[in-house]
Amino acid sequence: MIITIDGPAGAGKSTIARLLAEKLGVLYVDTGAMYRALTLKILRLNADFEDIERLIEIASGTDIKLKKSEDQSTIVFLDEQDVTGPIRKPEVTNAVFHVAGIARIRDLMVKFQREYARIDSIVMEGRDIGTVVFPQAEKKFYLDAKPLVRARRRNLELKQKGIDINTEDIVKQIEDRDIRDKTRDCGPLKKAEDAIYIDTSDMDIQEVVNCLLAHIKDEEKK
Ligand code: DC
Repeated sequence: MIITIDGPAGAGKSTIARLLAEKLGVLYVDTGAMYRALTLKILRLNADFEDIERLIEIASGTDIKLKKSEDQSTIVFLDEQDVTGPIRKPEVTNAVFHVAGIARIRDLMVKFQREYARIDSIVMEGRDIGTVVFPQAEKKFYLDAKPLVRARRRNLELKQKGIDINTEDIVKQIEDRDIRDKTRDCGPLKKAEDAIYIDTSDMDIQEVVNCLLAHIKDEEKK
């Protein structure tokens, strides 16, 4: 079974997708981590983000692998090197839109993402999973939450990593990212017509997971 979870930053996708996959005993795939890993490589190479051909060349020669750690979290390998920590740094978050807006890079990523479904049942989360990567998925969800709620969640997450930014700045960053994600020409963030929309603003993690599980059980009864 393929389950897709799309939605904006801070809507709870990663946590929910990981817990859901654990509960169902299937593979969890975080596609944002792939875009982040490639962005990190470009930053490290000091390549020009305006040089689209160069970025495509780098993407074509890049190996990104997601592996499960013992505690079920995802370890991200960039050309065989563990980059799980560095890909979450603000400089990566701020630059990833360059890469995510290039159609030929998205094509490469989508091809790679589709490979995962050959092996196993999966829960895959991102921005275009229900619309572009797996339009045929059995169950699609679109998670959303109010910008302030998403900013507070992001703030908490960053604090746990020792990064301190005030909530107002994060709201601004989140709104900027929303606009970029929703308005790009290729693979924009959009709810698939057949996706179930869930506003998680007033829900805790377990409530959201239970809600998704109930929908999946309904699907299995069909
Ligand atoms: O989910 P995240 O914040 O880790 O994603 C990082 C960036 O990657 C985000 O700004 C949008 C982009 N992204 C994308 O364009 N398509 C996806 N399927 C996943 C992420």
